Amino acid sequence: QKFGLVVVAAGRGERAGSPQDGPKQYRPIGGQAVIAHTLKTFLAHPDLGEVVVVIHKDDADLFAAATAGIADAARLRTVVGGATRQASVCAGLQALSAAAPRHVLIHDAVRPFVSRAIIDGVLETLRTGNAAALPAVAVADTLKRGDAKGDVDGTVSRAGLFAAQTPQGFDYAIIADGHARAAAETQTEFTDDCAIAEWAGVAVRLSRGHPSNVKLTTAEDIAMANEKLMPSGL
Ligand code: C5P
Repeated sequence: QKFGLVVVAAGRGERAGSPQDGPKQYRPIGGQAVIAHTLKTFLAHPDLGEVVVVIHKDDADLFAAATAGIADAARLRTVVGGATRQASVCAGLQALSAAAPRHVLIHDAVRPFVSRAIIDGVLETLRTGNAAALPAVAVADTLKRGDAKGDVDGTVSRAGLFAAQTPQGFDYAIIADGHARAAAETQTEFTDDCAIAEWAGVAVRLSRGHPSNVKLTTAEDIAMANEKLMPSGL
């Protein structure tokens, strides 16, 4: 059974350093754009159906350049995103409405270390009857609450806490409806799609994420990812 895919890549990446470097999903790591790593892993999956990549209206050239080296880049359909991640996902889901896949995965372009195992874990969770699947890792660090002065204000129990990753997987009809309703009915800005499922009353099942599946957010994250792929000491 084929799954649909929405990859969101319409952010401006303002936290990742100087604006002239461009959005982080198009920065090179290990000799290729971040988004090229991300897309190649999904394109290699035998069950991948329709793919929609949500890009910023000014980024068509950057996207074309970043994906030029991908053999089956012709499978990638692009649509223009919105002002928030939530709006961008919503646009991507709408673009899949004609295909209406049974299941859809929603992934951040800036997580290039997604693996086949993580994707398969999410698909397995959906195929065993869950409407929403969240790859996550149990929090390993001790958590502290800090105050405005920079002092530690207490220790927060990490028991039962997980760090949420993507790709998050859903029954397509349920998440498309949840997103449409969230956009129409609430001012709340949701930072991931499982939060929309939770808001809509849909149970979310945890699946196995991986500590490597990091979200590249800052210039340091990009530099570390590049170092991982192309160690400068070699
Ligand atoms: O900004 P944040 O770190 O949450 O971005 C996560 C993902 O969402 C990134 O891949 C980014 O390109 C995407 N995004 C988007 N549209 C926005 C904001 C973020 O597609 N308006």
